[in-house]
Amino acid sequence: MTNRTLDPHEPRRVLLVDAAGKERDATSHWLTQRGDCVSTVATTAEANRMTAAQRFDIVVLALEDPAPEALTLITQLRSQNASLPILAICRDASIAAASDAIHTDKCDFLVKPIALDDLESAIRKISRTDAVPNGNKRQTPKPRIRRSVSPIIGKSVAIEVVHQWIDRVAPCEMPVLIEGESGTGKELVASEIHAASRVADRPMITINCAAVPATLLESELFGHEKGSFTGAIATKRGLFEMADGGTLFVDELGELAGDLQAKLLRVLEDGRIRRVGSTCERQVHVRLLAATNKRLADEVRAGRFREDLFYRINVLGTRLPALRERSDDIGLLVAHFLGPGWTLGVGVLPVLERYTWPGNVRQLSNAIERSKVLSAEPGIVSVDDLPPEIVAASGDQRVEIGGDIDLETINRSHVLKVLQQHRGNKAKTARVLGINRRSLYRLLDKYGANQR
Ligand SMILES: Nc1ncnc2c1ncn2[C@@H]1O[C@H](COP(=O)(O)OP(=O)(O)OP(=O)(O)O)[C@@H](O)[C@H]1O
Ligand SMILES: [Mg+2]
Repeated sequence: MTNRTLDPHEPRRVLLVDAAGKERDATSHWLTQRGDCVSTVATTAEANRMTAAQRFDIVVLALEDPAPEALTLITQLRSQNASLPILAICRDASIAAASDAIHTDKCDFLVKPIALDDLESAIRKISRTDAVPNGNKRQTPKPRIRRSVSPIIGKSVAIEVVHQWIDRVAPCEMPVLIEGESGTGKELVASEIHAASRVADRPMITINCAAVPATLLESELFGHEKGSFTGAIATKRGLFEMADGGTLFVDELGELAGDLQAKLLRVLEDGRIRRVGSTCERQVHVRLLAATNKRLADEVRAGRFREDLFYRINVLGTRLPALRERSDDIGLLVAHFLGPGWTLGVGVLPVLERYTWPGNVRQLSNAIERSKVLSAEPGIVSVDDLPPEIVAASGDQRVEIGGDIDLETINRSHVLKVLQQHRGNKAKTARVLGINRRSLYRLLDKYGANQR
């Protein structure tokens, strides 16, 4: 498979090969924020299969193995695709040294620990092509086709990346997978994609795989012939037929049973469906959007989700950021949920910004709704009106300098504030505070704030 020429408007396709874990999540998230389309796998065997099936602009390979094995892996990938840029990240400088033999302009090594900026420049260096002479061109903004007012609120970098991703994937016909924790806005994003798609004038039909009993799901999706099972008293068209020419949004895709996964793959491959109890096939033309709050790659690894369907559907996939990863949007979201005539009392916003929001935007919306109802003073939501678990979890860190406060309290407040300002990035926080990372961890442990 040859490398495509990089279109500066297209996301760079990165295959990240690393054992599942925080480190991989962080790298993946960071690359996604840069505008890349990232697929992750845990092993080189999977990586080999992925690169055989899809085109990537670069493979980022985290190597835990000692030198000989690590080099075999690289050579294997190489033999499959001689021009595929590979960036290997190793724990052990000896690997990089031993690898001189395969050091080419399409292969580079970084030794851990690495700074994300180094990662970016290394990726740029080896994945640039003639079409992108300076690698920066890729970030030229594409003319926006976004509607003047998007219902997706937020100005954070993370949300801006989501907007740009929507602009890119909406006009394609390929299926799109939207991953993200509960309440992060997956359904909202699906509607936005549909609204910006070529079939925006047709309806978007939604099915929630978790809400329909497994036994009825097939007939719901594909329809059935009269008498095909008890209760099938009339012939019924399925949602694929109803969505023909438009969009079908399959929500909670991770809940779909194995046999239906196979049938879904079939439709994606050739657009053919068969009603339950029917012998004839029908052709449909449907744009498929799917969402899940699971990590489908993990489901594949656990054997609960078909690998072939995953690869098929995840080509243009993204993961929506959790609200705690974009707490600078909380003010805007709150203003939106409060509506006209309402404001926040003193000190409320910091409490909301410190909270970790496991239920994400939906939880925030509910919290504001509730606080308005319970508010003691009309038009103002104060700390005491907030759900108690939010106030308790965020700790009372309102500190007034100059009062009767000990230094420890001021330290704690300052450390947490800096951490918050740098969105939980501990390396940066430590640098700003002028302490090393280990000291920061010790402080956070002491303050009981080491969960992030
Ligand atoms: N960026 C946003 N701007 C404005 N409203 C948002 C945003 N994100 C989510 N919401 C609102 O939050 C609520 C939850 O969003 P949505 O239903 O799209 O989440 P979801 O990811 O599909 O959640 P679940 O996994 O629980 O199905 C909705 O009321 C939605 O309108
Ligand atoms: Mg949803």
